[in-house]
Amino acid sequence: MTLKAIPGMKDLLPPDSTQWAAVEKRARAHFFLYGYQEIRMPLLEETQLFVRGIGEGTGVVQKEMYTFLDKGGDSVTLRPEGTASVVRSFIENSLDKKEPLHKFYYIGPMFRYERPQKGRLRQFHQIGCEVLGTRSADADVEMIVMLHDLVSDLGVSGFKLEINSLGCAENADCRPKFLTMVKEYFTAHATGLCEDCQKRLETNPLRIFDCKKEPCRAIASKAPVVSDNLCGDCAPHFAHVKQGLQDLRVDFTHNPRIVRGLDYYDKTAFELTSDKLGSQSAFAGGGRYNNLVSSMGGPSVPAVGFAIGLERLMMLVSPESLPAEKPTIFLACLGEPARRKGRELVRILRTAGVSAEMDYDDKSLKSQMKRADKLGCQFAGILGDAELEKGLVMVRNLATREQVEVTDLLAHFKKL
Ligand code: HAM
Repeated sequence: MTLKAIPGMKDLLPPDSTQWAAVEKRARAHFFLYGYQEIRMPLLEETQLFVRGIGEGTGVVQKEMYTFLDKGGDSVTLRPEGTASVVRSFIENSLDKKEPLHKFYYIGPMFRYERPQKGRLRQFHQIGCEVLGTRSADADVEMIVMLHDLVSDLGVSGFKLEINSLGCAENADCRPKFLTMVKEYFTAHATGLCEDCQKRLETNPLRIFDCKKEPCRAIASKAPVVSDNLCGDCAPHFAHVKQGLQDLRVDFTHNPRIVRGLDYYDKTAFELTSDKLGSQSAFAGGGRYNNLVSSMGGPSVPAVGFAIGLERLMMLVSPESLPAEKPTIFLACLGEPARRKGRELVRILRTAGVSAEMDYDDKSLKSQMKRADKLGCQFAGILGDAELEKGLVMVRNLATREQVEVTDLLAHFKKL
């Protein structure tokens, strides 16, 4: 039997891997401009981290986690997202005592046992950002603008930014009051809800908004919305976020139906969506989570963050906005003496930062030139007995077909 990758887990092969690397490089450059630093967390964490962090009643925790007992009998889980791990690391390393404000980014695989389909995998990748240490709506605005500008810079067009406020749990007149209204509303429509949603009505009525089944969606579409019921702290916060986005001319719509699929959010929530993605239309999502750090046993540190789904993003990125890096020169060598010299020359070029290729086998000039074309090299160098004798290399520009004799290859390419 041939061995195959697990369903929903894919190899990333060239040229896709090159494009991914280019997107990651662009993202890192953006994050540097905004003062973010990289954090790398383990892929495997204690199961309780995600149960407590993401919320017991969420679809992710209930159905989608890769959870197993390790050899010591401890329950561990392959991370389904990055925020809970960042918060665990923040608390474990007492980062609040080192700096008042932290800006982190991470890039890496996440695991959710979902039904694989276009844009939905079991091992997928996220580029995520988290800012810990401020309540200011300016941080929400800056983060959304950074996400918007990164995605635009990657040549993604026609995407939508949707924002909402989920209110807060602290003020009885805010989300608690809204939850009571939602519960009353869904209780009145309980007979029309699916079995799962009838259970959610008892455990976590907000999660009914995540249900994909048509009857539940129809009922949810007429439910009260949280952003109509914000308290004296959340309403101005939301107004500030909207004003900030308007000031910076970032288009958005207020979608009062965004609730996000994870329990830790309060106040701002946002998503980027695109019609080009089919049913999995959200390619990035995030929001504020002011209570997650304290609820996980840490200090009271407010935070905001987002994650982009790389597979979905790559379906939207325009290849023209990511010029692929190609080798500069292919040195076609004819005969062993030329190949000996060639090995030395490509080493000199590579050491100086000029990407250079040559064949490992003694092939014909025609086949070597074909390979130079295939690799997309800008130049081919030809080195045979005659060139060797004269102490030069014939350098051909593969676009213009112009040829020059070059005695010092490195100096020639440095000049270019
Ligand atoms: P999320 O909305 O669950 O948020 O995931 C963020 C993005 O990951 C989604 O918009 C989507 O593009 C991608 N994604 C999720 N599941 C899959 C899947 N099965 N296959 C392919 N792509 C997927 C979070 O994970 C939060 N941690 C984001 C955040 C950071 N909030 C605050 N900070």
